[in-house]
Order: sequence, then structure tokens, then C-alpha cells
Amino acid sequence: MTEFSLLPPIRSICCIGAGYVGGPTMAVIADRCPEIQVTVVDLNQSRIDAWNDSDLSRLPVYEPGLDVVVARCRGRNLHFSTQVELAIAGADVVFLSVNTPTKTRGVGAGQASDLRWIEASARQVAACAKGHTIVVEKSTLPVRTAATVQAILDAAQGETPDGGAKSFSVLSNPEFLAEGTAIQDLENPDRVLIGGDDLQAIEVLASIYQQWVPNDRILRTNLWSSELSKLTANAFLAQRISSINSIAAICEATEANVQEVSRAIGSDTRIGPKFLQAGPGFGGSCFQKDILNLVYLSRHYGLEEVAAYWESVVQLNSWQQHRIARLVVNRLFGTVTGKRLAILGFAFKADTNDTREAPAIRICSDLLDEGAALAIYDPKVHKAQIASDLGQSAGETINESGSWMPASNVFESVSGADAVLILTEWAEFSALPWAQIAVLMRKPAWVFDARSCVDLPAARGAGLNVWSIGQG
Ligand code: UDX
Ligand code: ADP
Repeated sequence: MTEFSLLPPIRSICCIGAGYVGGPTMAVIADRCPEIQVTVVDLNQSRIDAWNDSDLSRLPVYEPGLDVVVARCRGRNLHFSTQVELAIAGADVVFLSVNTPTKTRGVGAGQASDLRWIEASARQVAACAKGHTIVVEKSTLPVRTAATVQAILDAAQGETPDGGAKSFSVLSNPEFLAEGTAIQDLENPDRVLIGGDDLQAIEVLASIYQQWVPNDRILRTNLWSSELSKLTANAFLAQRISSINSIAAICEATEANVQEVSRAIGSDTRIGPKFLQAGPGFGGSCFQKDILNLVYLSRHYGLEEVAAYWESVVQLNSWQQHRIARLVVNRLFGTVTGKRLAILGFAFKADTNDTREAPAIRICSDLLDEGAALAIYDPKVHKAQIASDLGQSAGETINESGSWMPASNVFESVSGADAVLILTEWAEFSALPWAQIAVLMRKPAWVFDARSCVDLPAARGAGLNVWSIGQG
């Protein structure tokens, strides 16, 4: 264990990875700790350029309140750079906040996380760090990844050719921020979790958070508990969504209403009201990936029943998305070939431009397979992102599939459409002028509300047929 007295005071932090997690997290640390210089580095030059853009509406991550925090700190003690080696060399603490997507090939494909970026960044830290460095895992990682990072760093520990010495402490400090509320979650977290063996390094990292988080909300655990807690928190949240979505399907088959059921069960303080909103299934970069990691880990340890249990949460989620696409086709007389369908919302949830694992991707892909002509409107997602997610450019047809076009507003999207599908709960979709919209659509016209945000009496009053998730 390192002697606390040997650890340098924290003057400088480097964060490797200027993504959805690294950017906002470091912005808030810089804001709350003006005496610490924070440098966020990334290999992606255009991403760094966007973080440095004088027009704050062009930051690469859209988060309410982020622009204000960046405006306060950037150039003062918050820096965005591609000079990875330099930033590591000058840092007392290095956060690893690189991407860890699910592997698409090789051992563990489809379930295990691809750790190549974590390994590469750990090797860079091993090569470039000077003196004692606290290395903090920020990305969501499979349990025991810290051992890999530690092994890489251990190999570099000791005397350096320039007569200095280098040493490392590895900590796990998972991020629990949710997109769309990242700044709020960072400024007022339910808890900060720090896992590690080096108690003094834990206290050094805790001292950063103590600048604005009450000490009793800073939880200290061992490394593995910290890594596993992150996966477990996301697995539990995702499980609630699959559970309520399964009940939504029962509601639709009966006379029950899922909103009423959610309210009834959520009033039980043991269950609580949050994460009981039925919808088109969970998306986002974490839930599916983390559960699949848990499944992979369980299988690795021979816990087949545990693996199958968690796997069913993901299976129900994809079933829900296919189910929605299927029921759209069924209601539209069994075919959507050549029919225009307005898709409102493409992001995986409101208040973000992120589309990773968005339910809209699977639902739109199924409808394209059925030959539909989609007019997609999302207030924050760019056309290029939609094209990349759907694997086909706007206006393109692949193997007799349907096609899609971007729409620049709701009215353009619904013009001439047989149906409107609401797939993201953007605030503007709760107050749509249904009478005006109905006039623009081809009759009989349908509204498919997968987010329970439509004013149902207004839509029905405008002569539209309405399906709303979980309503019998
Ligand atoms: C999640 C965790 O909440 C966060 O703690 C972790 O750090 C990262 O993963 P995020 O993916 O940003 O955050 O979004 P979240 O608000 O959790 O929503 C995830 C998905 O679940 C979204 O697609 C959302 O629409 C869906 N959802 C959420 C529901 O369908 N119903 C609900 O009741 C809540
Ligand atoms: P997250 O949602 O976890 O923040 P993102 O994919 O948004 O993930 O961001 C991760 C970032 O990490 C990307 O911008 C990527 O370019 C960057 N990155 C990955 N590996 C390295 C590396 N070795 N050095 C610097 N940046 C890296």
C-alpha cells in the first residue's frame, strides 16, 4: 500500500475519453474544484474541436445545463486536447472513460465487453505517467477489469530511465449519471462509489468529491464490489422496465391500464414509483451492455440459471420492440408496404441526442423490412446518425426494403402519413395539435403512442384511431 504522505496533492487531473461520461463529469469536477486543472483528452480530433467550439450549441454532447458549466470553466481549469501523452504525464489522477461496447466477434461476442480501448489507454498511462498516479476506472466495465488494468500498470512500475520512479493505485469509481439529467446527477448524486484496496488513494479521490458531495454519500468498497454494483444497479433498473413492459402486454390483452397498475404498485414504498413507465423498451449505452456482461460473468462461473434469469430481461426488451412493429403492421390492414409512417422521436429517450440501442432503431428497421416509407423527425438527432443506425441512407432502398426520409418538424413528418408513431417522449409531443395533424393525414389514420405522452381524448376527438401502450 502507498503511504499517504508520498501521494502528491491533487493539482492536475487527466480524463482519457471525451464522450458522454468523460465530458460532463470532468466539466462538473472542474467547476467544483477550481484549484485543480482538468484536461480531457481524446484521439478523436473532431470531437475535441467540438468541445472547444466557441459556439456552445455545438458541443458534441447535448445535456441541459452543460453549456453553462463549460462556459464557466473552459480555458480556466478545464481543457480539451488530443495531446494524450502530455496530459497523462502531468496528471496526479487519470480517469479512464473510454468506450467499452459489446464485442461483435471472437470469444464472448454479443455479450462480453470489448476492452481493447481500456487496455490501450491503460498501456498509454503505463508508458507516460510520472511519479505516483491514481488510475480511476470510470467506464462501465466487467467485474475484475481492474485486475487487467493493474497488471498492465504493474509491469511499468519502478525506476524510470530518467532516474525517476513511477507507481500506480487503481480505483473503481463508476458513473451513475443518466443522460438528459447528467449535470443534475453529477452535482447532486444519490451516492458516489469508490472501490479499491489502497485506502489512502480512496481518500484522495474522495477529497475531490467532498468539495460538493456530503461525505456520508461517498461509499467506499473493495474493487470488485464497486465494479459489480454498477452492473447490478443497471440490471435492476432495466429489470423493472422489462417487468412493467410485460405487464403492459397483459393490460392490452385485458381491460387493465398499465398507468393505473404502475401507480397502484408504485405507491407501495417497498416498490417505489420510479422506473415503472411502460414504453418501447429500454435503450442507451448501458442497460443492455451491462446485463449482457452479467450474463457472461455468470456463465463464466458456471451459474447457468443466474445467466438465464438476467438474459430474459434483455430478451423481453427486444420482444417488446418487435411486438410494437408487428402491431403497427397488423392495425394497418396487415401491410405497410409503400405506406408513409411518421416517426416522432429517434433518441433512446428525451433530452439527449444519443441513439445508442434506441428502441426506434429496431422498430424502424422492422418497418423498413416490411416496405414502409418512414418520415423521421427528432429534434436533436442528426440525419447522418439515423442513416448510420438504420444502415441505409435517406431515400435509399436496400433489397426491396422500404425507405426513410428525415423531416424537419412534426407537420412535415405527418403529411400524407397513414400513421404516427411516438417513440421518444420529447416534451413537444405531449402538446401536439391533433386536429391540425389529422387534416394532413391519409384516412383512416392511426396514432401509436409507445410513450404514453399523447393527449388521447384530443387525438380521438380529431377522428384518429389510437393505440397507446398498456391500455386495454
Ligand atoms: C442509465 C442509468 O439510469 C444510469 O444510472 C447509468 O449510469 C447509465 O444508464 P441512461 O441510459 O442515461 O442511464 O437512461 P435512463 O434514464 O436510465 O433510461 C434508460 C432507458 O430506459 C431509456 O430508453 C428510457 O426511455 C427507458 N425507461 C426508463 C423506460 O422505458 N421506463 C422507465 O420508467 C424509465
Ligand atoms: P461513454 O458513453 O462511455 O462516454 P463514448 O463512446 O461517448 O463513451 O466516449 C468514449 C471516447 O473515448 C471516444 O470519444 C473515443 O474516441 C475515446 N477513446 C477511446 N480510446 C481512447 C484512447 N486510447 N485515447 C484517447 N481517447 C480514447
